[in-house]
Amino acid sequence: MAQLIPTVLVTGASRGLGRGVAVELARAGMSVAIHYGSNEGAARDCRAACAAVAAEAGQQFPLIGADLGERGGWAGLIEKTLSQFGRLDALVNNAGMASPGRADALDSTEEAWDQVMAVNLKAPWFLAQAAARWWVDHPGEARLPGGYKLVFVSSVSAELASTNRGDYCISKAGLGMMARVWALRLAAHQTQVVEFRPGIMETDMTAGVKEKYDPIIAGGQVPMRRWGQPGDVGRAVRSFLVGDLPFCTGESIALDGGLHVPRL
Ligand SMILES: NC(=O)c1ccc[n+]([C@@H]2O[C@H](COP(=O)([O-])OP(=O)(O)OC[C@H]3O[C@@H](n4cnc5c(N)ncnc54)[C@H](OP(=O)(O)O)[C@@H]3O)[C@@H](O)[C@H]2O)c1
Repeated sequence: MAQLIPTVLVTGASRGLGRGVAVELARAGMSVAIHYGSNEGAARDCRAACAAVAAEAGQQFPLIGADLGERGGWAGLIEKTLSQFGRLDALVNNAGMASPGRADALDSTEEAWDQVMAVNLKAPWFLAQAAARWWVDHPGEARLPGGYKLVFVSSVSAELASTNRGDYCISKAGLGMMARVWALRLAAHQTQVVEFRPGIMETDMTAGVKEKYDPIIAGGQVPMRRWGQPGDVGRAVRSFLVGDLPFCTGESIALDGGLHVPRL
């Protein structure tokens, strides 16, 4: 049985949305490589949470650390996952960082730009490339219904502009095109690609701006009037991976309680 377990790499799985994804995939019977940047303790906690809900004997939850902000920090991450599992059925590009200092567009710095683009844009591209090469070389071996899966976790900020974090918004808008490029390139190789766009989510990333967002949410700017939770993203990714969107690729799917909907 163990040899039929699908295997997934989730980046930034130590905390927040990535952890929510890892736990849902564990619950669905998958082995999950839990990537983290520097917080190994949180990654261990995630592993324990995954093990607690695992559905199949033989599921594995290895921890893999790599700083995606370092030049070439992504190099070797797919290879390490392959050496753990011997295979890869899906990649969830979730790791990301906020705009350092949230500086106004007039004050934004080259240093912040380079950091955000390295983690949020460059690393997902090269991780996708490394995964794609393996998928192209291993036709017909996918263990997930409908084939291999590539996921990008971008943001409602791909669509909604903020003047105090232009670098972040631009990095997330870039992920939308990235998903389309890979969707086209991989469609003939039994690989589906989707971009999920979370809205205002309750994680460490937003802990410092909770007081700003609480009234915005309560006032109805988020029509569903609640914070998004890691499980909201986890369950969406799980649905995609288990084959519930069989004719979907290259699509952007909002997970934001209606925040992105233009209104009058
Ligand atoms: N929270 C929101 O409201 C929201 C909304 C829309 C989209 N998103 C996006 O969703 C994704 C997850 O966000 P989150 O809210 O869960 O963030 P979070 O709680 O701050 O967690 C970030 C995760 O990414 C990892 N990470 C950050 N920088 C890294 C680096 N340089 N190298 C390697 N790993 C790094 C962290 O690893 P460590 O634990 O080791 O630091 C952690 O696992 C991000 O792409 C974010 O942009 C978030």
